[in-house]
Amino acid sequence: MSTTQLETVSSTFLQDVKEGLSKPQKELPSKYFYDERGSELFEKICTLDEYYLTRAELDLMETHIKEICSAIGRKTLLAELGSGSSRKTRLLLEHLDEIEAYIPVDISADFLNSTAQSLREEFPDLTVHPVAADYTRPFPLPFRDGAERTVLYFPGSTIGNFTQERASRFLGRMAGLLEPGDGFLIGADRVKDTGVLEAAYNDKEGVTAQFNLNLLRRINGELDADFDLNQFKHHAFFNVEKSLIEMHLVSRTDQSVNIAGSTYHFQEGETIHTENSHKYSREHFGGLVEGLFIIEKEWRDRNNLFSLFYLSPLKE
Ligand code: AVI
Repeated sequence: MSTTQLETVSSTFLQDVKEGLSKPQKELPSKYFYDERGSELFEKICTLDEYYLTRAELDLMETHIKEICSAIGRKTLLAELGSGSSRKTRLLLEHLDEIEAYIPVDISADFLNSTAQSLREEFPDLTVHPVAADYTRPFPLPFRDGAERTVLYFPGSTIGNFTQERASRFLGRMAGLLEPGDGFLIGADRVKDTGVLEAAYNDKEGVTAQFNLNLLRRINGELDADFDLNQFKHHAFFNVEKSLIEMHLVSRTDQSVNIAGSTYHFQEGETIHTENSHKYSREHFGGLVEGLFIIEKEWRDRNNLFSLFYLSPLKE
């Protein structure tokens, strides 16, 4: 990144932080979790006993890989939203026959290029066209030539971290990228027992707590702030009515924090809302994509924890 790009990134970060902490319910955007340390912590979360999501998604892929690959078809451009560094991507690429090209789309050009490089080494016959773009904003898919269809792949349950409004906008944009006959393969975490959900976001080792608190550490490091990390604690719970896990950082005391020349006050017990993670039933997910896509297929893991949907765009 050039110096000017870096400055723009940190000024947007500062703006988002100031705006979020000025709201009556203080909040911080969850996309800022993922600096280097945050990404490492997330990787660790994915291996925890309580965090069933990653294992369940992999289990469903392994169980239904033939059907999933046949839904993707041949001569397909497979565009993954995210870098494609995961085991799920490799599983797909190992089983797909005659894929036209694989297009990882990711905001981090460095991460993208190193992933593309290792995929080319592992799959010498595969054409890899990385696209450096923020997939939550409009981006082009420039490599349609020669392919019979495009399938977008959005694994994990990242859609669950979007607000309903952002999720609808995002889905609308994805539908706009697709033509009749194309598809969208998208993962979503299923609603389930509150105890199982809450354990997944309150692991015994406290890795999720570190992941949450890392946001304050990042603000301190990048935005000239003085959060005392010992004065905040992690809190995550399932909001049944909204069907989502809410993550917060709770102020342990009355305190003030300085961020780039501005002061923010926190009362004891006041929280910063840092993340939502929506949990879907089939009906709820159907409602989210209604008017944009038809659900052609839904695959689940053996324990019914996680869903992978194959959607086709609805075009007049
Ligand atoms: C990235 N995303 C799908 C994770 C989730 O489960 O919502 C982020 C996460 N937050 C806490 N643990 C994991």
